[in-house]
Amino acid sequence: MYKKKRKVKKKVIFLGIGVILFIVLIIVAINLYAHFTSNEYKLEQIGYNEKEITDILELDNKYISYALENEYDNDLIPLTSEKWFIWDKYKNYKNYIKDLEEQPTTDKIDYEDVITKVNTKTNYKYYTHTTETNMNLGNAILVNKYYSLPEQYAPDDIVDVPTTYAFEGIQTKKEVYEAFKEMADAAKEDGITLIINSGYRTYEYQKNVYDQYESANGQEYADSYAARPDFSEHQSGLALDIVTYGMTMDNFEDSDTYKWLVNNCTDYGFILRYPKGKEEITGYAYESWHYRYLGKELAKKVEKSGLTFDEYYAYYLDKE
Ligand code: DAL
Ligand code: ZN
Repeated sequence: MYKKKRKVKKKVIFLGIGVILFIVLIIVAINLYAHFTSNEYKLEQIGYNEKEITDILELDNKYISYALENEYDNDLIPLTSEKWFIWDKYKNYKNYIKDLEEQPTTDKIDYEDVITKVNTKTNYKYYTHTTETNMNLGNAILVNKYYSLPEQYAPDDIVDVPTTYAFEGIQTKKEVYEAFKEMADAAKEDGITLIINSGYRTYEYQKNVYDQYESANGQEYADSYAARPDFSEHQSGLALDIVTYGMTMDNFEDSDTYKWLVNNCTDYGFILRYPKGKEEITGYAYESWHYRYLGKELAKKVEKSGLTFDEYYAYYLDKE
């Protein structure tokens, strides 16, 4: 009787152990399966180290998928960590990095510079890789050495600026004139006189400006001070050269008028378009007198970003 009971007990114990072992086995199998199918494991197999894996897994899903589907890429983390990184330009960044790496003078990749150059196309020579700018953007169009106006473009809402606000014969777009008037009147109240030295320029006029620079000082010099026709903001009717009486363009930056302008112009929709220190990005020497009309909202946003308009355009406005 007892023997029978003991036998049953033993069976129950074995069965219990069996069940426990089975469960443990299942758990181990699940864990192993989870490990070998995990992104961590896959990334490790591709060649990423522990730190890189942690960094990648903190990225947006599309970057994780890229890392999982491609060969080891040591540029992925530094590029995606850059503030002005644009995912759609990834191939362009990689191609430019490849070009740089092939140059014997490169010992370390400056990722911030790669981003800036590729975003603004300045990794290419000026006036190469040009495209017609997107005119649907209105006041926000980009016109520079890579983005042209339509051929022989002429705006249809050009007005004459009275000589209270400009030198003789100056014209500009109506909206730009109205914004300038508001700004000049406000400046006047602060004892500052703003005067437009150059506004809208026709294709022919701009061609003349450029040709004169070129015949006097050669192409390189001409290109750093004047835009080629169809590539000038002046031809768009959205740019003004602003000065004051008694100052030349060369010493304008030393004037109180200049100080007033840089401190206040975005309140009226203008930005200083070719700032000091950004010559490589804008493609032009520093021009303390050249202001671009963008409209109040956009001008404020560009100022806040701390970017040139070329960079701002690439990051926020270019939806090609
Ligand atoms: N001076 C500016 C760049 C122009 O010619 O449009
Ligand atoms: Zn100008």
